[in-house]
Amino acid sequence: MSDLEILKTSLMSDIAAALDEGSIEAVRVSALGKKGSISELLKTLGKMSPEERKTRGAEINAMRDEVAEAIAARKSELKAAAIAERLKAETVDVSLPVRSSPAERGRIHPISQIVDEITAIFGDMGFSIAEGPDVETDYYNFTALNFPEGHPAREMHDTFFFGADEKGERKVLRTHTSPVQIRTMEAEEPPIRIIIPGKTYRQDSDATHSPMFHQVEGLVIDKKANVANLRWVLEEFCKAFFEVDSVTMRFRPSFFPFTEPSFEVDIQCDRSGPIVKFGEGTDWMEILGCGMVHPNVLKFGGLDPDEYQGFAWGMGLDRIAMLKYGMPDLRDFFNADARWMTHYGFRPLDMPTLFAGLSS
Ligand code: DAH
Repeated sequence: MSDLEILKTSLMSDIAAALDEGSIEAVRVSALGKKGSISELLKTLGKMSPEERKTRGAEINAMRDEVAEAIAARKSELKAAAIAERLKAETVDVSLPVRSSPAERGRIHPISQIVDEITAIFGDMGFSIAEGPDVETDYYNFTALNFPEGHPAREMHDTFFFGADEKGERKVLRTHTSPVQIRTMEAEEPPIRIIIPGKTYRQDSDATHSPMFHQVEGLVIDKKANVANLRWVLEEFCKAFFEVDSVTMRFRPSFFPFTEPSFEVDIQCDRSGPIVKFGEGTDWMEILGCGMVHPNVLKFGGLDPDEYQGFAWGMGLDRIAMLKYGMPDLRDFFNADARWMTHYGFRPLDMPTLFAGLSS
Protein backbone atom coordinates (compact mmCIF):
# COMPACT_ATOMS: atom_id res chain seq x y z
CA MET A 1 0.00 0.00 0.00
CA SER A 2 1.35 3.43 -0.89
CA ASP A 3 1.86 5.97 1.89
CA LEU A 4 -1.11 7.94 0.54
CA GLU A 5 -3.39 4.91 0.73
CA ILE A 6 -2.28 4.17 4.27
CA LEU A 7 -3.02 7.74 5.31
CA LYS A 8 -6.38 7.69 3.51
CA THR A 9 -7.42 4.41 5.15
CA SER A 10 -6.50 5.73 8.55
CA LEU A 11 -8.40 9.01 7.99
CA MET A 12 -11.44 7.17 6.62
CA SER A 13 -11.60 5.02 9.72
CA ASP A 14 -11.26 8.09 11.94
CA ILE A 15 -14.16 9.67 9.99
CA ALA A 16 -16.31 6.58 10.45
CA ALA A 17 -15.45 6.46 14.14
CA ALA A 18 -16.42 10.11 14.79
CA LEU A 19 -19.69 10.01 16.75
CA ASP A 20 -20.46 13.68 17.19
CA GLU A 21 -19.91 17.04 15.53
CA GLY A 22 -16.98 17.88 17.83
CA SER A 23 -14.97 14.77 16.94
CA ILE A 24 -15.58 15.03 13.16
CA GLU A 25 -14.33 18.61 13.34
CA ALA A 26 -11.22 17.33 15.14
CA VAL A 27 -10.63 14.84 12.30
CA ARG A 28 -11.01 17.65 9.75
CA VAL A 29 -8.44 19.81 11.52
CA SER A 30 -6.03 16.87 11.83
CA ALA A 31 -6.20 16.23 8.06
CA LEU A 32 -7.07 19.50 6.32
CA GLY A 33 -6.20 22.12 8.94
CA LYS A 34 -3.14 24.34 8.54
CA LYS A 35 -0.87 21.71 10.06
CA GLY A 36 -3.05 18.76 9.07
CA SER A 37 -1.54 15.58 7.61
CA ILE A 38 -2.82 16.28 4.05
CA SER A 39 -1.86 19.96 4.21
CA GLU A 40 1.68 18.91 5.22
CA LEU A 41 1.83 16.59 2.19
CA LEU A 42 0.75 19.41 -0.12
CA LYS A 43 3.56 21.55 1.25
CA THR A 44 6.11 18.95 -0.03
CA LEU A 45 5.03 19.58 -3.65
CA GLY A 46 7.19 22.70 -3.89
CA LYS A 47 10.37 20.74 -3.51
CA MET A 48 9.55 18.23 -6.26
CA SER A 49 10.60 18.11 -9.87
CA PRO A 50 7.88 19.20 -12.32
CA GLU A 51 7.19 15.57 -13.45
CA GLU A 52 7.00 14.21 -9.96
CA ARG A 53 4.73 17.09 -8.96
CA LYS A 54 2.37 16.32 -11.84
CA THR A 55 1.66 12.72 -10.78
CA ARG A 56 2.16 13.10 -7.03
CA GLY A 57 0.22 16.40 -6.97
CA ALA A 58 -2.73 14.87 -8.76
CA GLU A 59 -2.74 11.91 -6.34
CA ILE A 60 -2.58 14.06 -3.23
CA ASN A 61 -5.31 16.42 -4.50
CA ALA A 62 -7.55 13.50 -5.41
CA MET A 63 -7.10 12.04 -1.97
CA ARG A 64 -7.72 15.42 -0.34
CA ASP A 65 -10.99 15.79 -2.28
CA GLU A 66 -12.09 12.31 -1.30
CA VAL A 67 -11.31 12.86 2.38
CA ALA A 68 -12.94 16.32 2.37
CA GLU A 69 -16.06 14.88 0.82
CA ALA A 70 -16.19 12.03 3.35
CA ILE A 71 -15.80 14.51 6.20
CA ALA A 72 -18.59 16.75 4.84
CA ALA A 73 -20.90 13.77 4.40
CA ARG A 74 -20.22 12.48 7.93
CA LYS A 75 -20.65 15.98 9.29
CA SER A 76 -24.13 16.44 7.83
CA GLU A 77 -25.05 12.92 8.96
CA LEU A 78 -24.02 13.72 12.54
CA LYS A 79 -25.77 17.09 12.42
CA ALA A 80 -29.03 15.48 11.34
CA ALA A 81 -28.63 12.85 14.07
CA ALA A 82 -28.02 15.57 16.69
CA ILE A 83 -31.17 17.42 15.64
CA ALA A 84 -33.21 14.22 15.72
CA GLU A 85 -31.83 13.43 19.17
CA ARG A 86 -32.68 16.90 20.47
CA LEU A 87 -36.17 16.79 19.06
CA LYS A 88 -36.71 13.49 20.82
CA ALA A 89 -35.37 14.77 24.13
CA GLU A 90 -37.24 18.08 24.03
CA THR A 91 -40.70 16.96 23.05
CA VAL A 92 -43.41 19.06 24.67
CA ASP A 93 -46.55 17.38 25.90
CA VAL A 94 -49.10 19.98 24.91
CA SER A 95 -51.81 18.11 26.78
CA LEU A 96 -50.18 18.89 30.18
CA PRO A 97 -52.21 21.32 32.34
CA VAL A 98 -50.97 24.93 32.32
CA ARG A 99 -49.02 25.82 35.47
CA SER A 100 -50.73 28.70 37.29
CA SER A 101 -49.02 32.09 37.17
CA PRO A 102 -47.88 33.93 40.34
CA ALA A 103 -50.80 36.34 39.89
CA GLU A 104 -53.18 33.39 40.07
CA ARG A 105 -51.44 31.67 42.98
CA GLY A 106 -50.80 34.77 45.14
CA ARG A 107 -53.41 35.88 47.67
CA ILE A 108 -54.48 39.22 49.13
CA HIS A 109 -54.57 39.20 52.95
CA PRO A 110 -58.11 39.60 54.38
CA ILE A 111 -57.07 42.85 56.10
CA SER A 112 -55.87 44.34 52.80
CA GLN A 113 -59.11 43.13 51.23
CA ILE A 114 -61.19 44.80 53.96
CA VAL A 115 -59.25 48.07 53.54
CA ASP A 116 -59.84 47.91 49.76
CA GLU A 117 -63.55 47.28 50.35
CA ILE A 118 -63.88 50.18 52.82
CA THR A 119 -61.91 52.45 50.50
CA ALA A 120 -64.25 51.56 47.61
CA ILE A 121 -67.32 52.36 49.73
CA PHE A 122 -66.11 55.69 51.14
CA GLY A 123 -64.43 56.64 47.87
CA ASP A 124 -67.86 56.39 46.28
CA MET A 125 -69.21 58.80 48.94
CA GLY A 126 -66.50 61.37 48.12
CA PHE A 127 -64.03 60.61 50.91
CA SER A 128 -60.29 60.56 50.35
CA ILE A 129 -57.63 58.60 52.23
CA ALA A 130 -55.23 60.09 54.78
CA GLU A 131 -52.33 58.42 56.54
CA GLY A 132 -49.96 59.20 59.39
CA PRO A 133 -46.92 57.70 61.15
CA ASP A 134 -47.11 54.58 63.34
CA VAL A 135 -44.57 56.13 65.75
CA GLU A 136 -46.37 59.16 67.17
CA THR A 137 -45.67 61.93 69.63
CA ASP A 138 -47.57 62.03 72.87
CA TYR A 139 -48.99 65.35 71.61
CA TYR A 140 -50.77 63.92 68.55
CA ASN A 141 -51.74 60.61 70.15
CA PHE A 142 -53.19 62.18 73.34
CA THR A 143 -52.82 65.88 74.12
CA ALA A 144 -54.23 67.32 70.88
CA LEU A 145 -57.10 64.83 71.13
CA ASN A 146 -58.13 66.43 74.40
CA PHE A 147 -56.68 63.82 76.74
CA PRO A 148 -55.51 66.06 79.63
CA GLU A 149 -52.11 65.27 81.26
CA GLY A 150 -52.56 62.53 83.82
CA HIS A 151 -56.09 61.76 82.60
CA PRO A 152 -57.01 58.10 83.28
CA ALA A 153 -58.05 57.64 79.64
CA ARG A 154 -54.34 57.66 78.76
CA GLU A 155 -53.88 54.56 80.89
CA MET A 156 -56.86 52.84 79.28
CA HIS A 157 -54.91 52.60 76.05
CA ASP A 158 -52.18 50.22 77.31
CA THR A 159 -49.66 52.26 75.40
CA PHE A 160 -46.25 51.10 74.15
CA PHE A 161 -43.82 53.90 75.08
CA PHE A 162 -40.37 54.46 73.58
CA GLY A 163 -37.43 55.55 75.76
CA ALA A 164 -37.01 59.30 76.34
CA ASP A 165 -35.23 61.32 73.58
CA GLU A 166 -32.71 64.21 74.16
CA LYS A 167 -35.58 66.51 75.12
CA GLY A 168 -36.93 63.97 77.59
CA GLU A 169 -39.96 63.25 75.34
CA ARG A 170 -41.21 59.73 74.95
CA LYS A 171 -42.66 58.75 71.57
CA VAL A 172 -45.43 56.13 71.46
CA LEU A 173 -46.65 53.50 69.03
CA ARG A 174 -49.96 55.12 68.15
CA THR A 175 -52.80 53.54 70.10
CA HIS A 176 -55.42 54.61 67.56
CA THR A 177 -55.71 56.25 64.12
CA SER A 178 -57.23 59.41 65.66
CA PRO A 179 -53.92 61.41 65.70
CA VAL A 180 -54.25 61.65 61.90
CA GLN A 181 -57.39 63.78 62.51
CA ILE A 182 -55.17 66.52 63.96
CA ARG A 183 -52.46 66.11 61.31
CA THR A 184 -55.11 66.49 58.59
CA MET A 185 -56.74 69.55 60.19
CA GLU A 186 -53.28 71.17 60.34
CA ALA A 187 -52.57 70.39 56.70
CA GLU A 188 -55.92 70.96 54.95
CA GLU A 189 -58.66 73.56 54.78
CA PRO A 190 -62.22 72.36 55.45
CA PRO A 191 -64.36 70.91 54.04
CA ILE A 192 -62.54 67.73 55.13
CA ARG A 193 -63.85 64.32 54.25
CA ILE A 194 -61.32 61.56 54.95
CA ILE A 195 -60.91 58.01 56.08
CA ILE A 196 -57.72 56.86 57.77
CA PRO A 197 -56.92 53.14 57.57
CA GLY A 198 -53.83 51.97 59.43
CA LYS A 199 -51.97 49.93 62.01
CA THR A 200 -52.43 50.64 65.71
CA TYR A 201 -50.74 49.20 68.82
CA ARG A 202 -51.69 48.28 72.37
CA GLN A 203 -50.30 45.89 74.96
CA ASP A 204 -52.92 43.18 74.59
CA SER A 205 -52.84 39.64 73.25
CA ASP A 206 -55.40 36.80 73.10
CA ALA A 207 -57.68 35.12 70.55
CA THR A 208 -59.42 38.41 69.74
CA HIS A 209 -56.65 40.93 70.54
CA SER A 210 -53.20 41.31 69.06
CA PRO A 211 -50.58 43.93 70.09
CA MET A 212 -50.67 45.24 66.51
CA PHE A 213 -54.13 45.63 65.06
CA HIS A 214 -55.92 47.75 62.46
CA GLN A 215 -58.39 50.60 62.58
CA VAL A 216 -60.16 52.82 60.14
CA GLU A 217 -60.98 56.32 61.26
CA GLY A 218 -63.40 58.71 59.58
CA LEU A 219 -63.49 62.49 59.81
CA VAL A 220 -65.86 65.02 58.30
CA ILE A 221 -65.48 68.74 58.98
CA ASP A 222 -67.46 71.56 57.43
CA LYS A 223 -69.79 74.32 58.61
CA LYS A 224 -72.86 72.23 59.31
CA ALA A 225 -71.94 68.55 59.72
CA ASN A 226 -74.30 67.00 62.29
CA VAL A 227 -75.29 63.77 64.02
CA ALA A 228 -77.94 63.00 61.39
CA ASN A 229 -75.25 63.11 58.68
CA LEU A 230 -73.05 60.86 60.84
CA ARG A 231 -75.86 58.31 61.19
CA TRP A 232 -76.54 58.33 57.46
CA VAL A 233 -72.90 57.83 56.53
CA LEU A 234 -72.46 54.95 58.98
CA GLU A 235 -75.69 53.28 57.93
CA GLU A 236 -74.83 53.48 54.23
CA PHE A 237 -71.39 52.13 55.04
CA CYS A 238 -72.74 49.16 57.04
CA LYS A 239 -75.24 48.19 54.31
CA ALA A 240 -72.55 48.30 51.63
CA PHE A 241 -69.90 46.60 53.76
CA PHE A 242 -72.03 43.73 55.07
CA GLU A 243 -73.71 43.47 51.64
CA VAL A 244 -77.29 43.61 52.95
CA ASP A 245 -80.28 45.77 51.95
CA SER A 246 -81.00 47.17 55.38
CA VAL A 247 -79.38 47.35 58.80
CA THR A 248 -80.65 48.46 62.16
CA MET A 249 -78.16 50.38 64.25
CA ARG A 250 -78.29 51.48 67.86
CA PHE A 251 -76.43 54.59 69.08
CA ARG A 252 -75.58 54.32 72.79
CA PRO A 253 -74.24 57.34 74.70
CA SER A 254 -70.58 56.86 75.54
CA PHE A 255 -67.42 58.80 76.33
CA PHE A 256 -64.32 59.66 74.29
CA PRO A 257 -62.19 62.71 75.18
CA PHE A 258 -62.14 63.85 71.53
CA THR A 259 -65.90 63.82 70.83
CA GLU A 260 -68.92 65.42 72.44
CA PRO A 261 -71.47 63.95 72.36
CA SER A 262 -69.95 60.47 71.97
CA PHE A 263 -71.64 57.23 70.98
CA GLU A 264 -70.94 53.57 70.70
CA VAL A 265 -72.73 51.96 67.78
CA ASP A 266 -74.22 48.48 67.83
CA ILE A 267 -75.51 46.70 64.78
CA GLN A 268 -78.41 44.25 64.85
CA CYS A 269 -77.44 40.70 64.01
CA ASP A 270 -78.34 37.05 64.31
CA ARG A 271 -75.81 34.97 66.19
CA SER A 272 -77.88 31.77 66.40
CA GLY A 273 -76.12 30.04 63.50
CA PRO A 274 -72.47 29.19 62.89
CA ILE A 275 -71.81 32.57 61.25
CA VAL A 276 -73.12 35.95 62.33
CA LYS A 277 -75.78 37.42 60.02
CA PHE A 278 -76.28 41.16 59.83
CA GLY A 279 -79.46 43.07 59.10
CA GLU A 280 -81.62 40.47 60.89
CA GLY A 281 -81.97 38.71 64.25
CA THR A 282 -82.34 39.88 67.83
CA ASP A 283 -78.70 40.28 68.95
CA TRP A 284 -76.60 43.44 69.04
CA MET A 285 -72.92 43.74 68.32
CA GLU A 286 -70.76 46.76 69.02
CA ILE A 287 -68.85 47.80 65.90
CA LEU A 288 -67.50 51.32 66.38
CA GLY A 289 -67.17 54.51 68.42
CA CYS A 290 -68.12 57.92 67.08
CA GLY A 291 -69.30 61.41 67.93
CA MET A 292 -69.19 65.12 67.13
CA VAL A 293 -65.62 66.43 67.14
CA HIS A 294 -64.92 68.17 70.48
CA PRO A 295 -64.40 71.97 70.18
CA ASN A 296 -61.01 71.62 71.92
CA VAL A 297 -59.90 69.15 69.22
CA LEU A 298 -60.92 71.61 66.49
CA LYS A 299 -58.88 74.27 68.29
CA PHE A 300 -55.84 71.97 68.57
CA GLY A 301 -56.23 71.36 64.82
CA GLY A 302 -56.13 75.12 64.20
CA LEU A 303 -59.84 75.48 63.38
CA ASP A 304 -62.35 77.90 64.90
CA PRO A 305 -65.11 75.88 66.66
CA ASP A 306 -67.52 78.79 66.18
CA GLU A 307 -67.09 78.44 62.42
CA TYR A 308 -66.56 74.70 61.91
CA GLN A 309 -68.03 71.50 63.25
CA GLY A 310 -67.54 67.89 62.38
CA PHE A 311 -68.06 64.25 63.18
CA ALA A 312 -65.65 61.35 63.49
CA TRP A 313 -65.66 57.64 64.05
CA GLY A 314 -63.17 54.85 64.68
CA MET A 315 -63.60 51.19 64.00
CA GLY A 316 -61.44 48.11 64.58
CA LEU A 317 -60.85 46.27 61.30
CA ASP A 318 -59.58 42.92 62.48
CA ARG A 319 -62.72 41.94 64.33
CA ILE A 320 -65.09 42.92 61.52
CA ALA A 321 -62.86 41.00 59.08
CA MET A 322 -63.19 37.95 61.36
CA LEU A 323 -66.97 38.43 61.46
CA LYS A 324 -67.44 39.03 57.75
CA TYR A 325 -65.22 36.17 56.59
CA GLY A 326 -65.75 33.68 59.44
CA MET A 327 -62.16 33.52 60.73
CA PRO A 328 -62.12 32.25 64.34
CA ASP A 329 -58.69 33.32 65.69
CA LEU A 330 -57.13 36.75 65.19
CA ARG A 331 -53.62 35.45 65.82
CA ASP A 332 -53.77 33.47 62.55
CA PHE A 333 -53.86 36.81 60.70
CA PHE A 334 -50.23 37.46 61.52
CA ASN A 335 -48.70 33.96 61.45
CA ALA A 336 -47.76 34.14 57.74
CA ASP A 337 -49.04 30.59 57.18
CA ALA A 338 -49.34 30.06 53.41
CA ARG A 339 -52.08 27.43 53.88
CA TRP A 340 -54.19 29.88 55.87
CA MET A 341 -53.64 32.53 53.17
CA THR A 342 -54.63 30.10 50.43
CA HIS A 343 -57.86 29.38 52.30
CA TYR A 344 -58.83 32.85 53.57
CA GLY A 345 -56.97 35.11 51.10
CA PHE A 346 -58.47 36.85 48.07
CA ARG A 347 -57.48 36.67 44.42
CA PRO A 348 -55.37 39.67 43.44
CA LEU A 349 -57.26 40.41 40.26
CA ASP A 350 -60.68 40.45 41.97
CA MET A 351 -60.48 44.05 43.17
CA PRO A 352 -63.48 44.99 45.31
CA THR A 353 -65.71 47.55 43.58
CA LEU A 354 -69.25 48.66 44.27
CA PHE A 355 -70.42 47.82 40.75
CA ALA A 356 -68.79 44.37 40.49
CA GLY A 357 -69.44 43.36 44.12
CA LEU A 358 -67.17 43.77 47.12
CA SER A 359 -66.37 40.24 48.09
CA SER A 360 -67.85 37.97 45.40
N1 DAH B 1 -59.94 56.25 68.87
C1 DAH B 1 -60.94 55.40 69.49
C2 DAH B 1 -60.31 54.13 69.95
O1 DAH B 1 -59.29 53.79 69.50
C3 DAH B 1 -62.05 55.12 68.52
C4 DAH B 1 -62.85 56.32 68.18
C5 DAH B 1 -64.00 56.62 68.91
C6 DAH B 1 -62.47 57.15 67.16
C7 DAH B 1 -64.77 57.72 68.59
C8 DAH B 1 -63.22 58.30 66.84
C9 DAH B 1 -64.39 58.56 67.58
O2 DAH B 1 -62.88 59.13 65.86
O3 DAH B 1 -65.11 59.64 67.25
O4 DAH B 1 -60.88 53.46 70.75
